[in-house]
Amino acid sequence: MSSFKPLVFSGVQPTGNLHLGNYLGAIKKFVALQDTNDCIYCVVDLHSLTAQLVHDDLEDQTRQITAAFLAAGINPKKHIVFNQSRVMQHAELAWIFNCVARIGWMSRMTQFKDKAGKDRENASLGLLAYPSLMAADILLYRATHVPVGEDQKQHLELTRDIAQKFNNDFSDRIAAKGLGVEMKVGEEIVRGYFPITEPVIGGPAARIMSLRDGSKKMSKSDPSDLSRINLTDDADTMAKKIKKAKTDPDALPSEVKGLEGRPEAENLVGIYAGLADISKEQVLKDFGGTQFSVFKPALAELAVAKLAPIAGEMRRILADRAYVDGVLSDGGAKAGALAEATMKDVRSIVGLQQG
Ligand code: TYM
Repeated sequence: MSSFKPLVFSGVQPTGNLHLGNYLGAIKKFVALQDTNDCIYCVVDLHSLTAQLVHDDLEDQTRQITAAFLAAGINPKKHIVFNQSRVMQHAELAWIFNCVARIGWMSRMTQFKDKAGKDRENASLGLLAYPSLMAADILLYRATHVPVGEDQKQHLELTRDIAQKFNNDFSDRIAAKGLGVEMKVGEEIVRGYFPITEPVIGGPAARIMSLRDGSKKMSKSDPSDLSRINLTDDADTMAKKIKKAKTDPDALPSEVKGLEGRPEAENLVGIYAGLADISKEQVLKDFGGTQFSVFKPALAELAVAKLAPIAGEMRRILADRAYVDGVLSDGGAKAGALAEATMKDVRSIVGLQQG
């Protein structure tokens, strides 16, 4: 049985400052995966138009995210780094997926419900269709693995549903044209054109919460800057935010079970574990029984040690704008060639005339 070639794809939106959640939940994983996989990392600028159409500085924000990828250690010579809007096939495949996906699937997405709020009628159609563009990002390269934070899990399930429905609906045409590969879905062997992508989610930092409220995720859109650590915060700001982070009056427990019902404590322990590349168990072995007055300064020191070099490198890279633009343009050319090969097949499967 032939199978899909392993390929990693992920994306980050160029809106607002990158924060610790983006770094630990996603970018750090991107870096780790590049040693053993072919990877494509994309600054998803088209996605940024869904919630807010006009941005004064979208191009600079795109460069910022690119610089963060590079500063964190992604190698653009070995892997593909580009911005989405350079490769128009993302939008083309998204249109086809808009016709595959059902409105019911889209309107059930928690992120759509959260972002659209009460005034759903007034949300952009793009916001509703967003997960279909995300599925197109991934499946345009027939990527098999997608590293993301926990908040993107539902979108990845939808990506799997779209791939499966496309494979089923067009199964005869895929077979007749000799396209696609045989793959195992459950116990069955079926022929499909798109892989059923595996999410890569997990570890102690898959869902970093706000420093002000342990029940809300750390987010670019939180009005309080104290709720998040930005990658570009200086050492004093990071230390101040960690010192002010909401906690409870008890000492840290010695076992993970003791974190139950203590979301703020659990979050800080998860952040420490993510930054230090150790488990929560290990953190509690080292800090169980200590008060936050001791743990917080240790966490601040670790955060500064890990993040300040990345922020410094980002500044250095951003100063050379031509270099950043060159990376995006080279990456765009490589991604474009792969994308067009897929779209030739897809147009033929769907029956669109291609001359
Ligand atoms: P975005 O730009 O909101 O976030 C980028 C990545 O950061 C992760 N993340 C978090 N991880 C842990 N804790 C948090 N508090 C936290 N906040 C954000 C996100 O899960 C994500 O991995 N829809 C995506 C972008 C996208 C994409 C794709 C991702 C577009 N197309 C294709 C993968 C594959 C988004 O808005 O991520």
